Amino acid sequence: MNEFIPVAWDGDAVRYLDQRLLPHEVRYERAQTVADIEGAIKSLAIRGAPCIGVFAAYGVALLRRTISDDGRFLEEASRVRAARPTAVNLAWAVDRVLAAGDALEEAKLIHEEQVAIDEAIAQNGFELIPKNARIVTICNTGPLATAGGGTALGVIIAAQRGAKKPHVFACETRPLLQGARLNYLELQQAGVDAFLMADSAAAIAMQRKGIDLVIVGADRIASNGDTANKIGTYALAILAAHHGIPFYIAAPRSTFDFAIRRGDEIPIEERNAEEVSSFAGRRVAPEGAAVYNPAFDVTPGHLIAAFVTECGIVRSPYVESIPDLELRPRVRVATPATH
Ligand code: MRU
Repeated sequence: MNEFIPVAWDGDAVRYLDQRLLPHEVRYERAQTVADIEGAIKSLAIRGAPCIGVFAAYGVALLRRTISDDGRFLEEASRVRAARPTAVNLAWAVDRVLAAGDALEEAKLIHEEQVAIDEAIAQNGFELIPKNARIVTICNTGPLATAGGGTALGVIIAAQRGAKKPHVFACETRPLLQGARLNYLELQQAGVDAFLMADSAAAIAMQRKGIDLVIVGADRIASNGDTANKIGTYALAILAAHHGIPFYIAAPRSTFDFAIRRGDEIPIEERNAEEVSSFAGRRVAPEGAAVYNPAFDVTPGHLIAAFVTECGIVRSPYVESIPDLELRPRVRVATPATH
């Protein structure tokens, strides 16, 4: 399924692929301490909402095995839980492992379930993709971002495998270039035709390139459908509405935060100035430039045509359909955990 193995249990460590080095270098690292686990998440060596959740689940299971003192264990687990604020999958996965009888078995189950969930998302999203669809997307939402088969990119890959010949216009995703570095790489690996474009080219692409739909992932979805995702997503949704193009979100149920009512309750991570004021390690803005660097934005639910989830397609009115989603049974994994 995956060309890479973004996360794996390694006996006395959590093995992970350092995504900051892609596409030029494939380097696996081993996280063994809370500092390693927290550092990998904060630095975006591991990133993408579901993948962060799987990694954190293994990380907390590792801490449970290595720390006998309950107080210290809970303190370190809460450091992992707070490493990034926006993607709800992180807190969700840590809470699941903390509540489980066997932390490692639960982490393995979360990983196995993610693989099954991604397969269901890809199957459910397939019907939304017309033949020869021209598709805009942003950020990276493939296997690297989920530790399974991907969400939005998983749907696109399913369309490719189903001979629908999608053509993708992939936003580069400034400032950290997850679109250029990671999504384009995974599109190539899957044999999907794609143009890489500057984020600011999305408007003219929708105006002149016959775009049929936009599909992206999510980091947290409120009960009314307001959705946090990579910075630039909200702009795409507005552009899609202006051009009459359907805008879809593909996300697992673990990305829905049923406890919050609206998007303005979602904390938005702001990252350091250098990500914007420098490029490829070289400063591009004048010394002293003040920088606003939100890592995510929130797209209002009314701009979203539908959510593709493992439980099916969720449509408006979201204040009814999203709370209904919470009541659906969890995806069950038939085979025992092997990761
Ligand atoms: O900052 P990142 O790279 O972790 O942001 C990732 C995204 O915004 C993805 O679109 C989202 O997590 C969905 S991944 C299937």
